[in-house]
Amino acid sequence: MPQTRVLLKNIGTPDSETLDGYLKNGGYQALKKAVSDLTPEEIVDSVKRSGLRGRGGAGFPAGMKWQFCASDQACPKYVICNADEGEPGTFKDRILLEEDPHAVLEGMALAGYAIGANQGYVYIRGEYYKGALSLEKAVTEANQHHYLGQKIYGTDFDFNIQVFRGAGAYICGEETALLDSLEGKAGRSRIKPPYPVNQGLWGKPTCVNNVETLTNIPWVVNKGVDWYRKFGTEESPGTKIYSLSGHVNHPGNYELPMGATLRELIYEYGGGIRQGRRLKAVMPGGASSACLTEKSLDVKMDFHSLAAAGSMLGSGAVIVMDENTCMVGAAHNVAAFFEHESCGRCTPCREGTHWIKRILERVKNFEAKSVAEIDLIADLGQNMRLGAFCPLGMGAPSAALSIIQHFRDEFETHVKEKRCPVNIPAVVPGL
Ligand SMILES: Cc1cc2nc3c(=O)[nH]c(=O)nc-3n(C[C@H](O)[C@H](O)[C@H](O)COP(=O)(O)O)c2cc1C
Ligand code: SF4
Repeated sequence: MPQTRVLLKNIGTPDSETLDGYLKNGGYQALKKAVSDLTPEEIVDSVKRSGLRGRGGAGFPAGMKWQFCASDQACPKYVICNADEGEPGTFKDRILLEEDPHAVLEGMALAGYAIGANQGYVYIRGEYYKGALSLEKAVTEANQHHYLGQKIYGTDFDFNIQVFRGAGAYICGEETALLDSLEGKAGRSRIKPPYPVNQGLWGKPTCVNNVETLTNIPWVVNKGVDWYRKFGTEESPGTKIYSLSGHVNHPGNYELPMGATLRELIYEYGGGIRQGRRLKAVMPGGASSACLTEKSLDVKMDFHSLAAAGSMLGSGAVIVMDENTCMVGAAHNVAAFFEHESCGRCTPCREGTHWIKRILERVKNFEAKSVAEIDLIADLGQNMRLGAFCPLGMGAPSAALSIIQHFRDEFETHVKEKRCPVNIPAVVPGL
């Protein structure tokens, strides 16, 4: 099936990661157009009218964020590219970082021009060694050829970029924890407000955007808003790179217009479920998203439709589980991830993630004494949603709670009959 390749257009072309390769693909033309012919206000306005929403998970309108940052008079200002990509099942930024790093840099420079910043940082997760090397090489090349640095395209616009490697903590993808980590502190979330657009890095106005969000910007500037809005839905314009993993025949990154259905992605692009089995559950937006079942296969994968279906688009990590998956095991797997990644600062999350995992372990190992233990998970989850300090803790119970809601009979069989109705250890690639 042909994909709608906009962001992934350069991937697979000769030397796509080099400056030469990028220039051959029309690279840095949007930056030239912006600094030569357009005002920063015009860029912000285009991004607003494009309807582009953040691709890092929260889906905040990019143009609105840029406007808030641009209108703050404090300086200096900063642009940060969030390349932490810690959400289980997500691997879409990685391909852009490794194989099209100049597109990310151009998006950052355009953001800098639009908001009035002269310095950008890419915060890349420690595990992305190849991506970090690719970016560092791209920054050096772009500096040498004056696409970055002083007086870009002979104008008064200066923009420098530094690559910063994280140490592999999921919480450091949350934008305020990322800022603390970049400042040299332990990565822990800050209280919001104030928001980073006003008080971000070292207390200065800062625009934090995801890799994929920034890679959209050269297209919006070059091709215009009307062209951009031809893709996707009215409410979620553009294309989206979905990372498809789990029990499908062809896992991988697929770029489709926003609003393609889960069925299209899984069956037409992903080749269906392995060994002709049936789909049992799918997490459409990574480990923090509520799972859906076969009944939701015709739901459109955009911000609005997935929220209406009781889940979320998140970063677009679609994790598929087939009929042989033990859902108690799957819930335990996700819970173990959150227990490990909780930063431990606040009680509802530190204790909640730990006890949800412990109880699920008891159910999985047939040690739970009564079904009241299953209800205790819901109770703990509710406390976390209401009382956790940051979005990690608020979102951590979603997957487990939704799995219990859809597959409660499986949990009860584990408790009452001391057996697993599926009886196959749950190992879900991508979790
Ligand atoms: C626990 C947690 C982890 C996150 N990890 C990432 C990440 O790896 N990459 C990312 O771009 N956004 C991540 N986010 C979202 C960021 O906080 C922020 O919303 C995003 O970087 C803003 O960019 P965008 O508006 O372009 O999406 C995470 C959020 C939370 C709560
Ligand atoms: S919710 Fe979790 S990750 Fe966030 S501050 Fe509390 S303990 Fe840390």
